[in-house]
Amino acid sequence: MRLSIYATEVTDLLVLKKRNVLYRFVVWNDLHSRADLPGRPPWYPGANIRALWARDQVLKAPAERRPAFVLSAGDIIDGEIPDYNQDFRYVKETLLDPLPVPFLPCLGNHENGQGEGIEEKNKAYDAWFGPGWHNYVFRAGGLGFVVLDTSGGHRSPDGITEARNQFLERSLRFLKEEPIIVVSHTPLIAMREEEVLRQSFGFDSWKVQDERLLGIVESAADRVVAVICGHLHLSGIKEKAGIYHIMAAGTGGYPADLASVTVYEDRIEVTIDSLPAELQNPDANIHGRPRHPTDFTDSDHPDHESYLKGHPWERRILIPLKRSLPVSENLLEVYHETECGQWEKVLAFPLKDG
Ligand SMILES: [Fe+2]
Repeated sequence: MRLSIYATEVTDLLVLKKRNVLYRFVVWNDLHSRADLPGRPPWYPGANIRALWARDQVLKAPAERRPAFVLSAGDIIDGEIPDYNQDFRYVKETLLDPLPVPFLPCLGNHENGQGEGIEEKNKAYDAWFGPGWHNYVFRAGGLGFVVLDTSGGHRSPDGITEARNQFLERSLRFLKEEPIIVVSHTPLIAMREEEVLRQSFGFDSWKVQDERLLGIVESAADRVVAVICGHLHLSGIKEKAGIYHIMAAGTGGYPADLASVTVYEDRIEVTIDSLPAELQNPDANIHGRPRHPTDFTDSDHPDHESYLKGHPWERRILIPLKRSLPVSENLLEVYHETECGQWEKVLAFPLKDG
């Protein structure tokens, strides 16, 4: 099995040399930034420093490596305290405003206290990002993206999860033919051996509990190429039903990893990279000591480090696209749904200068 994957990668590398890079983007998830105000409780140690490092990677990138946009996969703030509005202010001022490229938000459970579909719990997020940024769609250089609010990933099927499911169905109809990436803070599948993951993560949201969402995604497996998620503070890429589920640990905890995506004419390349060793803090690990009396492992990851970080072959993937992207397309266009099935373009900007 491994040999065939390596062989594919070697072939891909040879082919890639001849292919155009259309654009790159970076994924920010689980930054868990918090305004460090007097009297506030301690949170993930060093999280703010690591988030600033992520920002600086974008700021300092040479023009040819500069991402076209920063895509959130949720939990940019730590929240979970009454005045978490201050966390949004801090993130906006220190991380988002200085960015030279657009930031596309996504709701994580720490941005609204697990409050998907509950108006009161979303007031702070809505005030900072504006209306329409819970479930939305964008197109970038011929790729379609569906950003979903799965901040209530723990919810058993109910009216709130069904609204999410129906939005996805309408989005897939809207996007029609293009290859699609789904963005969901909460993963849709078990990203580690299920029984172990339930224990090591310790929350019901180890995956989206309304499994109809995954069913809808897989029913469009001819178009959906990947699901980008976060939430678990684990890194790895898993394939199911021909769809790659991509999860970086984020920068708030340990390990501190971020994903970046390079889009080519006929494929996308995803890499999960570690932050520098001096910024890593094992005390921020939620799947082992000190949170648990033991360091968890599973059948595919017999040591704790691979359980946390994934094996090398789970940290880089080349995903071929069944339909080539238009080389001349240089636009990112964001659409919000004003009423069911009514889409309004709310933003458009070039992916590359010039
Ligand atoms: Fe989360």
